[in-house]
Amino acid sequence: MATATSLDIPALDAELTRESPQAILARALDLYDNIAISFSGAEDVVLIDMAHRLGKPVKVFSLDTGRLHPETYQFIDRVRKHYGITIDLMYPDAAAIEALVAEKGLFSFFEDGHQECCGIRKVAPLRRKLATLDAWITGQRKDQNPATRASVPVAQVDQAFSSEGRELVKFNPLANWTSADVWMYIRSYEVPYNSLHERGFVSIGCEPCTRPVLPQQHEREGRWWWENADKKECGLHAPQK
Ligand code: ADX
Ligand code: SF4
Repeated sequence: MATATSLDIPALDAELTRESPQAILARALDLYDNIAISFSGAEDVVLIDMAHRLGKPVKVFSLDTGRLHPETYQFIDRVRKHYGITIDLMYPDAAAIEALVAEKGLFSFFEDGHQECCGIRKVAPLRRKLATLDAWITGQRKDQNPATRASVPVAQVDQAFSSEGRELVKFNPLANWTSADVWMYIRSYEVPYNSLHERGFVSIGCEPCTRPVLPQQHEREGRWWWENADKKECGLHAPQK
């Protein structure tokens, strides 16, 4: 079993980049025992389905920001039961969120940007989870945001959450797939999906910060629509322009 420091991650990325998501996932799960899928409750369910079909047990976690849609909570639980897996839900620090809401109310992100709320509700719980792992797997794709994800590699040393002396490895098996590829997979394999997708939602995040998009509108326009495209990252992923 590899450790992060014993592997040349850029070489691994070069080797895997033309492989299928299934092959990338299989390799990630072979290389690391202490690895988990970061599941947002949206179309990244395909990663869980792929791992299931590979017959490889994998840890899964979701960041419960407290602001997800009811449909997303229902979906996360459906996925848990459908695949017979445990999904670790990570919660924000109660004191930090109480202080933010007491000072700025429940919708501060519309006034001074989403970074502070995302920092408490998403990034800090993610940091806590990642501190327990050697590697993680995300559903990031290049086509999700041309302004920030255009060069997402399939394997990388995590630029946001590695620390001195501790390299965290990040796999993005879907990086080179398009939304159309993902949906072809979901429909071909009859993968369960979030019912919000039936109502025009493409990219799904927290309820107050996500809205459906119109035909031909880019999926990212449904997220934090009051902010510029290059600000549309909440801190889970370092921009890869
Ligand atoms: S975000 O950073 O803008 O919110 P996005 O919704 O595009 O991310 O999802 C990209 C990937 O980030 C997901 O496939 C998943 O791996 C991870 N991710 C995003 N939100 C969550 C969440 N709430 N819980 C766990 N993982 C998440
Ligand atoms: Fe807060 Fe919106 Fe970020 Fe969710 S997406 S954590 S509600 S700012």
